[in-house]
Amino acid sequence: MSIPNISQFPAGFTWGVATSSFQIEGATFVDGRGESIWDRFCATEGKVKNGDHGEIACDHYNRFEEDIALMKSLGVQSYRFSIAWPRILPTGTEQEPLEAGLAFYDRLVDALLAAGIEPWVTLYHWDLPQTLQDEGGWLNRRIVERFTHYTEILAKRLGDRVKNWITINEPWVVCHLGYGVGEHAPGLKSIQQSLLAAHHVLLAHGASVPVIRKHVKDAKVGITLNLCPSEPASQSPWDITANRLFDGFFNRWYLDPIFGRGYPTDMIEEYQRRGDLCDHINWVEEGDLETISVETDFLGINYYSRAVIRSDKVSEAENWERTVFDDGARTAFNWEVHAPSLERLLLRLTHDYGAKEIVVTENGASYPTTPDENGVVADVERQAYFEQHISACASAIEQGATLTGYFAWSLLDNFEWAEGYEQRFGLVWVDFETQERIPKQSALWLRDFWG
Ligand code: FCB
Repeated sequence: MSIPNISQFPAGFTWGVATSSFQIEGATFVDGRGESIWDRFCATEGKVKNGDHGEIACDHYNRFEEDIALMKSLGVQSYRFSIAWPRILPTGTEQEPLEAGLAFYDRLVDALLAAGIEPWVTLYHWDLPQTLQDEGGWLNRRIVERFTHYTEILAKRLGDRVKNWITINEPWVVCHLGYGVGEHAPGLKSIQQSLLAAHHVLLAHGASVPVIRKHVKDAKVGITLNLCPSEPASQSPWDITANRLFDGFFNRWYLDPIFGRGYPTDMIEEYQRRGDLCDHINWVEEGDLETISVETDFLGINYYSRAVIRSDKVSEAENWERTVFDDGARTAFNWEVHAPSLERLLLRLTHDYGAKEIVVTENGASYPTTPDENGVVADVERQAYFEQHISACASAIEQGATLTGYFAWSLLDNFEWAEGYEQRFGLVWVDFETQERIPKQSALWLRDFWG
């Protein structure tokens, strides 16, 4: 694939970098911040690699000015970050917010604007107040009211300066990894419950969109889905069915209701067949699907890799979650590098779903490259990953895709959830002992690219 050129992108295209609160802030119990489900998860033995936790992370809470200066030096134009819910409402149940928490995000936003960087806020990037988990978290329909209350506080406070809002980051990860298989906080293991959680996540998104619009003049609002384009490993009918079901499980279960199509009926049948959706009908109350399909301004997508699906039965598409990869390049996370799937995904969202505006809110790769003796971090694979994926975006745009922005994940090496600090996605290398930061070669390439 060719090297991208900035002239392939329309004027006004958004270029940025992304992070999230728990992954970089540290200062977990500072200034009254409450406990989040990720603090609890990290403190539970065996959940996070090497017993890693978020207590210091990149110490961004104390170093945000330095980090903003770094972004400025890299020519970053937009910055996507998330708000730590327990800094604003320590238990999630308070009526009045914590001033210290709001003041931190005020300072962050003001410093960004002073540096000429456009803020993009994500309201929920996984650090749920533990107290809300104690009342069921995303399994309790009350979370919708809790979330809109939290949303209203932030929209009122930051809405004069922040115009770009993302309600929820990656419902599939929140629900499947958090409630379905227990790899993420809160660590529950029930597919049935994960589907209930998904309904409440989508509802919370839908209910919060009008709240943001009410308080933020000229708001641009969307949700971010992590999507995984998939294809069958062969043209056998079993692989084709398995692939359709995988797509339903990963992508359509979220896309369809958001785009007003309701939950996909083939998946309702499949989950019922598996006994995972016995009482589906009771969860969906009148009006819910309208709430979920509220009109937004853009669809955020996080793209990392594709899946190739093989059924492990010959007579029935049973094991549709199983993925096999071809012999292509992999990142340190063992994720296949496959830029053409991003192009295909953008075209599908444009043409099949009619997405009027799409923003890639995360795209990036984990490689362990460390500084050489001259302090240079020559992360050539990451640079190649960006070149290929940005080229795929250019090619999709040329074919009519409604893509309007691209955020690289991530500004800094950071706390990579269950993987702890082992997987490094940063454009900037971080020494977690000294908090030294060194822009990697890929960051310098991006700086020169977006000029
Ligand atoms: C996404 C998450 C982000 C980061 C990347 C690698 O699923 O949104 O926080 O962990 O993966």
